[in-house]
Amino acid sequence: MEDKSEVKINIIGKNGQKIEITEAEQKRRNKIKKVNDEFKLVNAEKSRIINEKEIWKYFFEKPKKNYNKYMYEMLEFPKHLMYNNKSVDEYRGKWNEFFGNKNDIYLEIGCGSGNFTVQNAEKFKDRNYIALELRFKRLVLGAKKSKKRNLDNILFVRKRAETILDFLGKDEIAGVYINFPDPWEGEEKKRVISKSLFFKLDIVLKTNGKLFFKTDHDQYYENVLELINELDNYKIIYHTNDLHNSEKASENIKTEFEQMFLSKHNMKIKYIEIQKNR
Ligand SMILES: C[S@@+](CC[C@H](N)C(=O)[O-])C[C@H]1O[C@@H](n2cnc3c(N)ncnc32)[C@H](O)[C@@H]1O
Repeated sequence: MEDKSEVKINIIGKNGQKIEITEAEQKRRNKIKKVNDEFKLVNAEKSRIINEKEIWKYFFEKPKKNYNKYMYEMLEFPKHLMYNNKSVDEYRGKWNEFFGNKNDIYLEIGCGSGNFTVQNAEKFKDRNYIALELRFKRLVLGAKKSKKRNLDNILFVRKRAETILDFLGKDEIAGVYINFPDPWEGEEKKRVISKSLFFKLDIVLKTNGKLFFKTDHDQYYENVLELINELDNYKIIYHTNDLHNSEKASENIKTEFEQMFLSKHNMKIKYIEIQKNR
């Protein structure tokens, strides 16, 4: 009778090559794989528990009595959410490696719960999206939607707009979206859209790259139009004080705040497209 353990079979190796091995060898390899997989699972669980205990250190100087529960939930989305400043900064100039392709990268600043960027990432699979937000709950909601839709071209990042030079390299970004940023009435110096932001975009935004801005706030809209006229390197290529009754209405993707302004307050949405010259 034929010794079964000596029967040769073909398997596909790690690099896609065909390998001929005996059935006994196949059994031995399967056993090792099972042990390795179990080991990885236990380790992943261990590191999750350690991270849960330590995660506050990324955000606070001293431990607090109570934490926002969404702080812990951020751990559930390793593929869609990066909350550790250091890890984010390490990708400076290398985001195409993170996404595993050479596609254009778009940035959203202050993305809220992520509807806008998630829908963009679903619609434009050949683009990558990095969405910045500060609030734990909003980051978690955005990451949850991305995971549910199995999107691999989107990442939520807990970073302030003011720190983009720490984690974005030269010409790394093709476009920037800023939707309904806080208008900071009376404290306008704190606004996200400022001369200082454009000086940073001089570095990270590609030539001919664009910034897209939507707001409900008349004065913010007027102030941004004035600001761009003062900047040599940027020009306004489109603006309207009533986006939903403009030629851009059909391609517009609504944000959470936009939905609210439209349904509750029936407000006119103001919109500007700005292009970088060089
Ligand atoms: C008024 S909400 C708009 C949210 C979303 N864009 C929308 O339209 O539904 C502004 C968001 O920007 C975030 N934010 C404020 N300042 C920021 C900053 N410096 N960097 C990043 N995000 C910021 C806030 O946490 C908030 O979620």
